[in-house]
Amino acid sequence: MINSIKEKFYKLFGGKPIIVRSPGRVNLIGEHTDYNMGFVLPAAIDKSIYFAIKPRNDKRINLFAYDLNDEWKFAVDDIKRSEKSWANYLIGVVDQIKKTGKEIQGFDCVFGGDIPIGAGLSSSAAIEAGLAFALDKLFNLGFEKIELVKLAQRAENQFVGVQCGIMDQYINIFGKKGNVLRIDCRSLDYDYFPFEFDDVSVVLFNTNVSHSLASSEYNKRRKECSTGVDIIKERYENVESLRDVTIDMLEESRNKLDGVIYKRCKYVIEESERLLSACDALNKNNLREFGKYMYGSHQGLSKEYEVSSPELDYLVELVSNLDGVYGARMMGGGFGGCTINLIENKYVNSVSRKVKENYKKKFGIDAEVYVTSINNGTEIIES
Ligand code: GLA
Repeated sequence: MINSIKEKFYKLFGGKPIIVRSPGRVNLIGEHTDYNMGFVLPAAIDKSIYFAIKPRNDKRINLFAYDLNDEWKFAVDDIKRSEKSWANYLIGVVDQIKKTGKEIQGFDCVFGGDIPIGAGLSSSAAIEAGLAFALDKLFNLGFEKIELVKLAQRAENQFVGVQCGIMDQYINIFGKKGNVLRIDCRSLDYDYFPFEFDDVSVVLFNTNVSHSLASSEYNKRRKECSTGVDIIKERYENVESLRDVTIDMLEESRNKLDGVIYKRCKYVIEESERLLSACDALNKNNLREFGKYMYGSHQGLSKEYEVSSPELDYLVELVSNLDGVYGARMMGGGFGGCTINLIENKYVNSVSRKVKENYKKKFGIDAEVYVTSINNGTEIIES
């Protein structure tokens, strides 16, 4: 992959680019908690986007999307939305860098990789944070890591228009081989938890379904949570996010909350508790218990937060009855994409086979299987 991208770069632009690897991510538990200022537990994985990128002496920016065989060209001083949706993830980053007041020149860039799009592995954050990281290095912009994270998130919020939280961009930059990160999305501090086992793998089953509703429903969930906060605030004025709310506090406001808003808030509060308990289980090396929290997370996402889909529900239900599976749940924003599963190594093949066979029978769609390993966050691999 890296070689093909490099070759394309030589053909299109010539010269020697730097190569940046920017990973996709998994999230073990803690879904839709980031924008509620709670905790998340993601890891960067071995599926990545690679950028071959080199500065120019003028203000031209030439982008080439290797996987789509498509190009977009613009000038640093002429930032506007592209009709090609893929380009907006990159233009948004240039826009945000300029808004910080830092100067950049033009550049040539070929990028591509093996993070499946729409699979909930955060290919978009990999593009945004990867480019922000690459431009920081290319032009010596001197951003702190956390500034790159926030800048990439703003690119998605303001230019692409999805009001995403900070998890995906954060893990993309801060990921560490063999570890999951427990990120406190309020303080933006994190702890590492080793997550490498001799006998257990993190396996993703891709439903190969992605619903176009996803981004509008995502923004809707955010609104529902903030509506809940506004109502709870009437009684507890110091509450700023669902992070500050306990189940008891929620119950006290129950008669003022619409049924849907109540369910959404209840899920978020319980998911935060589940995540903290799951981390205790990790500390005790108890993956059975950890897996139970994953199932609990899925139930909440499906029944209360209502961001699952029949395909995701089916895959979680199916594996929950199979030997060797510690836990499973839908992952990411929802409405399609992958389930994440903790499976004992000696059962990975048999479970994967059952998933593929049964899923095809039920939905007529091929499910894909990715056995992942946990890798570093964005890094330069050739300079
Ligand atoms: C998407 C968003 C994240 C997060 C998850 C749900 O991946 O980009 O910020 O909210 O959904 O946990």
